Amino acid sequence: MITQATDQRMVTEVVLPGVVAPEGLQIRQRPVAGPRAGQALLAMEATGVSFAEQQMRRGKYYDQPPFPFVPGYDLVGRVEAVGAGVDPGLVGRRFAALTKTGGWASHVVVDAADLVQVPDAVSSADAETLVVNGITAWQMLHRVARIRAGQTVLVMGANGGVGSTLVQLARSAGVRVIGTASPRHHDTLRHLGATPVDYRDPDLWAHLRELAPDGVDAVFDHVGGEGILDSFRLLAPGGTLVSYGTASTRDDAGSSRMPVLKLVARLFLWNLLPNSRRAHFFNIWAGRGRPDAFRARLRADLGQVFALLADGVVKAQVAGRIPLSRAVEAMRLAESGTVTGKVVLVPDPASAPCS
Ligand SMILES: NC(=O)c1ccc[n+]([C@@H]2O[C@H](COP(=O)([O-])OP(=O)(O)OC[C@H]3O[C@@H](n4cnc5c(N)ncnc54)[C@H](OP(=O)(O)O)[C@@H]3O)[C@@H](O)[C@H]2O)c1
Repeated sequence: MITQATDQRMVTEVVLPGVVAPEGLQIRQRPVAGPRAGQALLAMEATGVSFAEQQMRRGKYYDQPPFPFVPGYDLVGRVEAVGAGVDPGLVGRRFAALTKTGGWASHVVVDAADLVQVPDAVSSADAETLVVNGITAWQMLHRVARIRAGQTVLVMGANGGVGSTLVQLARSAGVRVIGTASPRHHDTLRHLGATPVDYRDPDLWAHLRELAPDGVDAVFDHVGGEGILDSFRLLAPGGTLVSYGTASTRDDAGSSRMPVLKLVARLFLWNLLPNSRRAHFFNIWAGRGRPDAFRARLRADLGQVFALLADGVVKAQVAGRIPLSRAVEAMRLAESGTVTGKVVLVPDPASAPCS
């Protein structure tokens, strides 16, 4: 059953055809497909550029699908139609979804069970900045590091999408934050409540030690590579290293999986040592084998983040709003090293308005 006709309208989508420069992204149109049983068709109101797409266009994301495919890790959209077995009352309502791929399209079919409601008070572009970023940051802070008020943490890449969310969520929990970023972002970080440090400073770790002489309670490290040892060494006794990426190997030749596997093996070994510190690799998709529990956790955590956004405790960091068909420009901007927060893709003017 489809509760609303999907007629002959066309989907506009962005295709990643292979390992290409941003200019190699292609725009494709095809007829809108109706949702099948258990699914909902969303008219996209906002999607965005994550680091994952930067890795995918280089063929360097851990488990990306074979080319060609439509990238897009998450989106916010309004339900246009639902398939059999889905509440018809969802039609017309606005939801967020974590998709890993497929979000860069004017219309996206998702499993209805994966939809997370977006508060009315929040714009779609603002909500979009906190879907993958909010879930990742919330779960790392509260489910892995289990931060408490009065603690001190180090956030690497604190101007990025996940990083700026980590800073704000940690500050809202009463935690002192030291954040690494290029100097051009330092004023913004101060404004978010973090103490900024330049990650290219050759004396970075000595400066961090001055700022936290007894070590920090948690480090959130998406950089990986050899520097991960410095992150671990900066921990205070009882502290937690949360490693969640290998950004430093994005441009390296070779396997997309090896840097992650090496990193995970290293963290595993450190946990065997009697050093009173813990090391975790966070993966947002862990636990997917038990879909009900996975979805319940994701819905609860993203719900908390959206509530903080609606209350003004967390501010969306929208680095730019760019129409979908100008995805090349969006990708270039996201990779420019000049932005704070997330570059958001919105519908092209002719397709649908963005709230
Ligand atoms: N494990 C998971 O489940 C999971 C989930 C979501 C995201 N992630 C990871 O989270 C990280 C951030 O993602 P995002 O979407 O927030 O990215 P983003 O918005 O593009 O931000 C990336 C940040 O990393 C910094 N950076 C880039 N390359 C670096 C390097 N070689 N050394 C140090 N810093 C570097 C950037 O600094 P500049 O602005 O100065 O370039 C920026 O602050 C990525 O590594 C991504 O893979 C992991």
